[in-house]
Amino acid sequence: MAIHPVLRMGHPLLNQRAEAVTEFNTTELDSLIEDMLDTMQAEDGAGLAAPQIGVSLRVVVFGFDENPRYQEAPPVPKTVLINPHIRPLDEAIEDGWEGCLSVPGMRGIVPRYSRIEYRGFDAAGKPLEVKAEGFHARVVQHECDHLDGILYPQRIKDFSRFGYIDELARAGLLPLYTAQE
Ligand code: NI
Repeated sequence: MAIHPVLRMGHPLLNQRAEAVTEFNTTELDSLIEDMLDTMQAEDGAGLAAPQIGVSLRVVVFGFDENPRYQEAPPVPKTVLINPHIRPLDEAIEDGWEGCLSVPGMRGIVPRYSRIEYRGFDAAGKPLEVKAEGFHARVVQHECDHLDGILYPQRIKDFSRFGYIDELARAGLLPLYTAQE
């Protein structure tokens, strides 16, 4: 088990397109996944992408039963997703608050597809195909963006709803946020 420091916005690796995983069930991949899960849990992340701990591979993890950083969020199944592809199921877009361990202390409103299907492989290399909506769909789109070098601030359309958590909360824009960060 190893908890890694999370790279912050400005680190060039977060702007790179990550490489596909070509071999499953290797010691390196297994320990990467374990470290990502440990780091996500230690940081109370809703998800984590490999580039955030300095590994430029197309691996994301996400999911929680409840999350102190997103107290209003419904549970999302714990998932390891490798070499993912996302397909929107329709054109519907919804706005929602997002944060990122690589952009600490901030939140912004980001438009995302409401309903998606995602495919890829699990930790053992078994194909996955899942339909998701709402916060689950949002988390998957956020994490997979990391693999293409995209951080959520690049998706923001309305910068009047992007800022520091304590300021947004004081302004009543983040009424459900109570945890400290
Ligand atoms: Ni993120």
